[in-house]
Amino acid sequence: MPTFDTDRTSPAEIDRAAAILRAGGLVAFPTETVYGLGGRALDPAALARIFAAKGRPTTHPLIAHVLDAEDAARLAARWSRVASRLAEAFWPGPLTLVVPRAAHVPLELTGGGDSVGVRAPSHPVARALLEALGDAIAAPSANRYQTLSPTTAAHVAASLGDRVDLILDGGPCSAGIESTVVDLCGDAPRILRPGAVDLAALLAVEPTVVERPHQSLGPTEQRASPGMDRRHYAPRTPLVVLSGRAAVLEEARRRARGGERVALLLVEALVERDLSSNARASEGPEVVVRALGAEPAAYARQLFAALHELDASGLDVILAEEVPDTVPWRAVADRLRRAGAELPR
Ligand code: TXA
Ligand code: MG
Repeated sequence: MPTFDTDRTSPAEIDRAAAILRAGGLVAFPTETVYGLGGRALDPAALARIFAAKGRPTTHPLIAHVLDAEDAARLAARWSRVASRLAEAFWPGPLTLVVPRAAHVPLELTGGGDSVGVRAPSHPVARALLEALGDAIAAPSANRYQTLSPTTAAHVAASLGDRVDLILDGGPCSAGIESTVVDLCGDAPRILRPGAVDLAALLAVEPTVVERPHQSLGPTEQRASPGMDRRHYAPRTPLVVLSGRAAVLEEARRRARGGERVALLLVEALVERDLSSNARASEGPEVVVRALGAEPAAYARQLFAALHELDASGLDVILAEEVPDTVPWRAVADRLRRAGAELPR
């Protein structure tokens, strides 16, 4: 039965969580990116429980959370200089490094592959839990497969309910978007998933990092990077990404006229000019407007919370304004694109 500590997490609560993990149970915990669904990384039975609770295919690898580079290196067959440099610069923090797997790391963690994703989170509750357990914690985002990532304890409870033994409440996540995943197993470090650390920041530390945009993935490559399905991070409400504010307002007007209940997900707030130049965006009370922020970090922090909220409002459609096609917006653009993808038929 999930419980919450409304005063945020006490030391006693952390000890209880560590005991649950030691016994093979599952604990959801906050990180600076999103909440994670944790189980002991080296315990195949706990890993099986994580996959079952999420409803996620067992071929999708999980990230092992550790305190520092030293603990990460223990899970790796090889810990390169690039790994050291990136860990030194970004840990603790929202960067996941994919490195060759050490022999004792279970294949259940790696999705059957020979690499393992490792990350040292910075959230104090996550770190306290890692310290209390004294061992690596496997944790995907604490949501059912292909649904919205959780950025509050309440999101976790709504998605996983009794499938998790305990939920630690650390408040809303500060980054609000998942870690950047960088593959260090090939010739050059490659971004597998854009996230809270952007390409420019990575390049400043490691000039050899290359971006691999999702669109360039062929079907074979997609299989080589499991867990990167096109539909992911998706609300139940259909979400359509439209290019340009005028297009968003035009579509909103059309749909509202047709009786649909519409939400607008915007970068910046509507101004008088938008309303007058497009007649009225909202013909009637059924247009909900959310402006998430002109800075990518602010937008990212609020994105999943806004989608959770809009999803719960029984709307017919969410019309999202396309974000700028620039490096700092890559992770947000990626999540919006996936949120808008059609379910495979
Ligand atoms: O911010 C985060 O990364 C959050 C928090 C809880 O740490 N975790 C998270 O986990 O987002 P998950 O399982 O939802 O996403 C993990 C991503 C997937 O895209 C997966 O394919 C990739 O990391 N990944 C993990 N290990 C990998 C590996 N060995 N090879 C390739 N990709 C890997
Ligand atoms: Mg996830």
